[in-house]
Amino acid sequence: MCGIFGYCGGKKASEILIEGLKRLEYRGYDSSGICVGNGSKFSVYKRVGKIKVLADTLPEKPFGHNGIAHTRWATHGGVTEANAHPHTDCNEKIAIVHNGIIENYQQLKDKLLVKGHKFKSETDSEVIAHLIEEVFNGDLTKAVKQVLPMLKGTYGLIAMHVDCPDVLVGARNGSPLILGIGNNEMFLASDVNAMVAYTKQVVYLNDKEIVTVTPDGFTTSDVQDNAIHKDITMVETDGESFDKQGYNHFMMKEIAEQTEAIKRGMVGRLNVDEATGHLGGLNMDNAQLLDVERIVLVAAGTSYYAGMTASYLIENLVRIPARVELASELRYKNIIVEKNTLYFVISQSGETADTLFALRELQRKGAHVLGICNAVGSTIARETDGGVYIHSGPEIAVASTKAFTSQLTALYIFTLLMARIRHLSFEQGKEFINAFNELPALIEEILSADDKIEQIADKYYKSQSFMFLGRGINYPVAMEGALKLKEISYIHAEGFGAGELKHGPIALINEQTPSFFLVPDDALRDKNISNMKEVKARGGKIIAVCTNGDDEVKEIADDVIEVPKIMPCFYPFLLVVPLQLFAYHCAVKLGRDVDQPRNLAKSVTVE
Ligand code: G6P
Repeated sequence: MCGIFGYCGGKKASEILIEGLKRLEYRGYDSSGICVGNGSKFSVYKRVGKIKVLADTLPEKPFGHNGIAHTRWATHGGVTEANAHPHTDCNEKIAIVHNGIIENYQQLKDKLLVKGHKFKSETDSEVIAHLIEEVFNGDLTKAVKQVLPMLKGTYGLIAMHVDCPDVLVGARNGSPLILGIGNNEMFLASDVNAMVAYTKQVVYLNDKEIVTVTPDGFTTSDVQDNAIHKDITMVETDGESFDKQGYNHFMMKEIAEQTEAIKRGMVGRLNVDEATGHLGGLNMDNAQLLDVERIVLVAAGTSYYAGMTASYLIENLVRIPARVELASELRYKNIIVEKNTLYFVISQSGETADTLFALRELQRKGAHVLGICNAVGSTIARETDGGVYIHSGPEIAVASTKAFTSQLTALYIFTLLMARIRHLSFEQGKEFINAFNELPALIEEILSADDKIEQIADKYYKSQSFMFLGRGINYPVAMEGALKLKEISYIHAEGFGAGELKHGPIALINEQTPSFFLVPDDALRDKNISNMKEVKARGGKIIAVCTNGDDEVKEIADDVIEVPKIMPCFYPFLLVVPLQLFAYHCAVKLGRDVDQPRNLAKSVTVE
């Protein structure tokens, strides 16, 4: 989704801005632009399409040492150069980049039009530049502070003015903004990844905070002009992970990295001696955890399916009710926050607007909310009352893969901890840990069968529609498999609980609609086999993902992908991998933009 980046220092700003934008590319965008201060005027360049197109249009010669840049994911107004940021005021003296949505922009714009302002775009964002123009009186920070109370909605923004050379002013409310402190140079960005190549010293801004930046310093304050003290944090993000390291796509690299990511998520968190889990970041002791009577997991997209999987495991092993809620629904449903209930928000990016606002709504109602995040220092990670970092490493491909299995890792460890506080015996805890430790090697085994999965993809990738069916704890995996396929191949796909087949989806079965069946050797295997037979009887093609050597399944299915045997509750980790690989190969064969599929964004920072 939209990314913003600002630079102020002694180097050639255009080069640094383009580099920063490239590091925001993975979030998904449709156009981009930069504005560089150049003496008494601005130079603005905007292009539709890839950053490379923008970079190729910039002049060679240096033209300024400060500037702002943006990757846009269209919300208000089509994908055009005019709608791309930065936006300027009537006299092109003020430039802004903005993430978020200004909900009252039409009212503001109408008033500005009456006053004679000329607009160049259809965006909501452009009003900010014109509002600053209205109130500017030599001090950019003061002007921004006058404008912010007029804005209804969300923003992460950076402004610059030709009359204030070497000054950038940033502000946030609901969209992330981070300050990077370099050596006589400063950075502002919506994503720490944009600046890690230049500095590891950052300041995370909170909502309603305003920062004024010059090459050698910064000040933070609120709209009422109260100074705000900010701590400097060292980030540990590994810049090298932005390299495909020999893979054709980030997605394939990230699928392959799952074994290592799971291992990282387990380190120090499985206590073999006590056969339990250890998660220091929860900030809750065992007595407090024992008081928990209910668990609610809140998330969006792939993270939602990780939460849904965990809800099955928690109910089964912890024996307390657990349910999952879509963040986008929860925030408006006037949810009843119950006592003795533990809430989790799950988010790879830690910036998903729906999940962030659901978190705030829950906290407003007095809930205790923990986070499961990948991005260290992200807004959700900072605002939750405790939580777990999944340590997957940066996930660049828009379609989430390794974050899913890493989220499961964290949630399974939490479940073990909770279950051992209650009914799970020492012996059962040990068996659980043994199975957990087997996972990385078993996933490696599945990855080594990639050629076979590619051949199956080759047979089916021209299909118009797919069904994904699973039961119990593997039902969310079926949903995730369908999500992966539709996200990156644009093939229509739906996930269902296999038991629901007769209640509607079976009407879709014909020879052109293949069904993926998740049919491991668990307690529901025979039920799944019955459903497979129903599909077969109606001429439907079946691709089954089953346990090694399951001859009965092999006999019914048209194609089979085998996974190794494991303790049944761990099958979600194994079954999802072939589904990720299948989606990947279909997308490649269809010539899709695998890492940055159309219309999608990695980090959905607007509603
Ligand atoms: C977007 C992404 C999905 C992701 C979802 C939730 O829709 O395209 O891949 O699963 O957001 O993201 P989060 O960062 O909160 O896990």
